[in-house]
Amino acid sequence: MKEILKIKGGKPLRGTVNVSGAKNAALPTIAATLLTDEEVVLNNVPPLKDVSTMLEMTSRLGKRIEKISDHSYRVSEATKTTKTPPELVRKMRASFLVLGPLLGKMKEAKIAFPGGCSIGSRPIDFHLKGLSRLGANVEREDGMITASTKGLKGGEIYLDYPSVGATEQLLMGAAIADGRTTVHNPAREPEVMDLIDLLTKLGAKIEVELSKIKVEGVEKLHGATHSIVPDRIEAGTYLLAGAATGGNLKVKKINPDHLKSLIIKLREAGLKVEESEEEIALEYRGRLESLDVKTFPYPGFPTDLQAPLTSLLVKAEGKSMIRETIFDSRLDHIPELKKMGAEISVEGSDTFLVKGRDELNGSSVEATDIRAGAALVIAGMSAEGETKIHNLHHLDRGYSELERKLRGLDAQIERKKPDYE
Ligand code: EPU
Repeated sequence: MKEILKIKGGKPLRGTVNVSGAKNAALPTIAATLLTDEEVVLNNVPPLKDVSTMLEMTSRLGKRIEKISDHSYRVSEATKTTKTPPELVRKMRASFLVLGPLLGKMKEAKIAFPGGCSIGSRPIDFHLKGLSRLGANVEREDGMITASTKGLKGGEIYLDYPSVGATEQLLMGAAIADGRTTVHNPAREPEVMDLIDLLTKLGAKIEVELSKIKVEGVEKLHGATHSIVPDRIEAGTYLLAGAATGGNLKVKKINPDHLKSLIIKLREAGLKVEESEEEIALEYRGRLESLDVKTFPYPGFPTDLQAPLTSLLVKAEGKSMIRETIFDSRLDHIPELKKMGAEISVEGSDTFLVKGRDELNGSSVEATDIRAGAALVIAGMSAEGETKIHNLHHLDRGYSELERKLRGLDAQIERKKPDYE
């Protein structure tokens, strides 16, 4: 029987929470270990399902994975095969990131076509076009992609959109290609910068400029030790939860610079937010004002905080407007929030208006993706009565030790088998 989360809402969150390493940095970083035969030690790895899937993928491709401690892994030995298990690509789109490293190191790869998902169509054309520019021959047949090369060669690539995954994929391939690669209009999310940091420690030659990233290919990468950057989306989720419940909390082990867009928006909404070196402190000051927010590539407001932000704005005074510009259908949290009494009207395909109100009511709701799930957790904690959240596997993909961390902030939350409703 599938577990559910039961939340008793209406209590302000208080206390301190430590942020884990970023899921979206850990995944490409683990894929990058395929590029070297030498030992890579990764620290601050978050204990998440998606991370286990990526570790399993690299292990099935021949790497040796050893868990050194709770959040540290040693990855060693050479990549041995280029056949990627389709069930792992289906489980998690990010496993597709092994394509670039496999092509670079093994000169061939066979991988299932990752489908769309509940947040949008999520094509992979930039990945494939970019790798072709680097000298890969890419064929698609029966839902599989077969790619091969006589050896990747540097080239100039312009991304039509600063895609996080495509930038990462191409940087990994370019790191051991022959000659210079320039990626124009790249993504510059902190998770991309963290991958560049690891690749540089492995011996890659990468220069980040204002509108492009230059990579001078090297013959071989070596080993390194690296600590994964803190998870700005996890930190942002706790800050929004604190604000929505009228609380007073601190998130620690975070780089506040990575969350500037959220911090400034929270101040605009009337919250007191203070930053210090590795910490953000938030205090509710008796009012919550409406906001207009548009998601945008970094340093813009992150799409991954759009749904959690909606759960804050349903409690603000007045009307807020949110526009999702990154994914084509990331609005699945809206019908679930409406079940809890939120007044939200969708205007067109990417914009919605949120009419703030004082109270939400606990209800039985479904998490449809990681961040929609986080939005429901926030709404549940700020609602009157009990909320039951179903489909927890999404939340477990992205939030480590969610209940323990929230209980540490005084939340009343527990994971249970459902007693039939
Ligand atoms: N796009 C294309 N063609 C491509 C690649 C992307 O059209 O070949 C489009 C996408 O459809 C989307 C836009 O470009 O409209 C941006 O997508 P991007 O490639 O940047 O997203 P991603 O790499 O697939 C990562 C995160 C997501 C996060 C986005 C945006 C990982 C593993 N995933 O996805 O995280 O929302 O960047 O910041 O890094 C999450 O953690 O919940 C999550 C979905």
